[in-house]
Amino acid sequence: LASIEVDVSALQPGMSLTVKWRGKPVFIRNRTEKEVEEAKAVPIAELKDPVARNANAQDGAQATDLARSAGQGKENWIVMIGSCTHLGCVPLGQAGEYGGWFCPCHGSVYDTAGRIRKGPAPENLHIPNYAFTSDTVIKIG
Ligand code: FES
Repeated sequence: LASIEVDVSALQPGMSLTVKWRGKPVFIRNRTEKEVEEAKAVPIAELKDPVARNANAQDGAQATDLARSAGQGKENWIVMIGSCTHLGCVPLGQAGEYGGWFCPCHGSVYDTAGRIRKGPAPENLHIPNYAFTSDTVIKIG
């Protein structure tokens, strides 16, 4: 399947869903205000990978929280390929010292915007092409 549609109407803030797309897990999370604020507060200079890694953003866009999120007015939503950028393990959600994702294979730690903060992974979790087709449906791919 080239693209899939996902109903996210049941996802309250703080809830996540993992779907399969092109054989890979995709994490969809409705982030809490606190998670968004924490991610926004991090200076770009502190990031190991300062690039957004967002297929929907311009090439080379900076990894601000907004550029990592679903965008203006939908900053609470984050959609990412659930594959650690080190060697491809599936990171665990709401784990690790930054409250984001933690990869149990070799200890990579991602923040609440899915940005790599510690450990061997070289890049932020990748963001696939996706769009909201309504307030509650996300089309991935
Ligand atoms: Fe995730 Fe190595 S595969 S840290």
